[in-house]
Amino acid sequence: MAEWWKKIVAYQIYPKSFSDASGSGTGDLKGITNHLDYLKELSVGAIWITPIYPSPMVDNGYDISDYTEIDSAYGSMSDFENLIAEADKRGIKIVMDLVYNHSSDKHNWFLESKKNKNNPKADWYIWRDAKADGSPPTNWRSIFGGSAWTWCEERKQFYLHTFAVEQPDLNWENPEVRQALYDAANFWLEKGVGGFRIDAITYIKKPKKFLDGEPDGKDGLTTIHNFTANTEGILDFLREFKEKVFAGKNIFTVGEANGVAAEELSRWVGKDGVFDMLFEFSHVNLPLKNGEIWCRPTEWKLSELKQAISNSQAATKNNGWYPAFFENHDKPRCVNYFFAKGANKIKAAKALATVLLTMRGTPFIFQGQELGMSNVSWNEIEKYNDISSRSQFDFAIQEGFSAAEAIDFIKFFSRDNARTPMQWSAEKNSGFSDAEKTWLPVNENYLEVNAAAEEKNSDSVLNWYRKLSKFRSENPEFIFGDFEMLLAEDEKIFAFARSSEEKKFVTAVNFSQEKVELPKNFAEKKILIDSEKNSDKNFLQPLEARIYQD
Ligand code: GLC
Repeated sequence: MAEWWKKIVAYQIYPKSFSDASGSGTGDLKGITNHLDYLKELSVGAIWITPIYPSPMVDNGYDISDYTEIDSAYGSMSDFENLIAEADKRGIKIVMDLVYNHSSDKHNWFLESKKNKNNPKADWYIWRDAKADGSPPTNWRSIFGGSAWTWCEERKQFYLHTFAVEQPDLNWENPEVRQALYDAANFWLEKGVGGFRIDAITYIKKPKKFLDGEPDGKDGLTTIHNFTANTEGILDFLREFKEKVFAGKNIFTVGEANGVAAEELSRWVGKDGVFDMLFEFSHVNLPLKNGEIWCRPTEWKLSELKQAISNSQAATKNNGWYPAFFENHDKPRCVNYFFAKGANKIKAAKALATVLLTMRGTPFIFQGQELGMSNVSWNEIEKYNDISSRSQFDFAIQEGFSAAEAIDFIKFFSRDNARTPMQWSAEKNSGFSDAEKTWLPVNENYLEVNAAAEEKNSDSVLNWYRKLSKFRSENPEFIFGDFEMLLAEDEKIFAFARSSEEKKFVTAVNFSQEKVELPKNFAEKKILIDSEKNSDKNFLQPLEARIYQD
């Protein structure tokens, strides 16, 4: 079936936290297989699983030490093959995460490369001499904090790492490196995977010259992103990648592309682009307009969120395809992130779900989003597992914030907010695991927010997701229909139309905490679905979500 992935709802699984069948306290592949029927009920057509390859887990799998194996904590290769086969029976494809900007420092390639300057893999990573005074080649700050260069005593050179010290950047200029990466992707295609999410891909091409930048923090360093993201020539590498791996296959590819603006999407996606879709971050990065530095959040407005989405919609209207998302494993929970403090979380979750599932593009639901899972609120930095939360905490202190202020930033932005165990039931460890201790604590609200309770409640967030997901799949207007933003300047209502020649649907969602009056012409439309029971056609209650037929 051509472009099957335009018609599906995709679901993202963070395997450490989804379901633990072995009782180790960490999720695993059998746990995923056990819940395929649950995903089928949500009308899911593809599951993107974040990395499950062998890894020292410094960055929870984004530091890979073998690209063609399964980490034993998650199970075996035959568990993986079984997952593919069972998913296939239910019409669900498995999508793998390719982390190709960097490997783990425990990968054999790096162990070899760091030995000296003339071993066969000497040029597989990015090595540079120290400056004359012995300092790193540039003053770039890695995304996880500290210098992006680490000294290797064995080789007497620095190596570059965009992320953690343990995640050395691969040298894409070397054709052997590229071929090894393509071979690994082809290995998974032979196993029958339905696509790839390609991690941090905007960083693979480094600039010709490595230059110091103006410091943007008290550490005297400058954000690496501004020097290495989306560099001239990157698409040449990616065209080769497409040709050697993806071209002609019945799969989809979605790149993670921090640093690519909506206007540039046409070069990246579609017929002449390199991927089918691109996760572009302008809408989710609004509270961080100053870059990925959490202690410098900025105010944002609903009109800006709508503008960002309109831009991406316009850019993918005639070319390429949009992956719609509001949550992933790197972002806080959307009920906290996009709504005022104190907003009713059930209503907020339904409000955002309505936008997500009626927008143009393939919706990606992140595990637990369909339950309305929310942020945790831990007061001790030691409780956080996420490497980036810890480094951002240190950075905030260095910038002069108090420990209490720093922990407030972490509470709001921490990636661990999205990574707590899935809330399946009101049983021990929220039904996620039988172990004494889970790898990350369960959110305390699991007694109320859990799949078992929500299945029984017709007004739950879960049943709202199921209903809209089904409604979407039954009405082609939501797949291929045009998208038109309505009330673009309004700071309370998020509204848009989806139409074909035969039919027109209108979505209207009140993002505010106040009752708002709708423009007169809304009263004439037929309400098909409404999140409130006693609604008034002229008004939207706080967080009310509606779908009309026009
Ligand atoms: C991507 C991943 C993130 C990871 C980083 C480094 O942004 O989504 O989780 O930490 O790449 O691989």
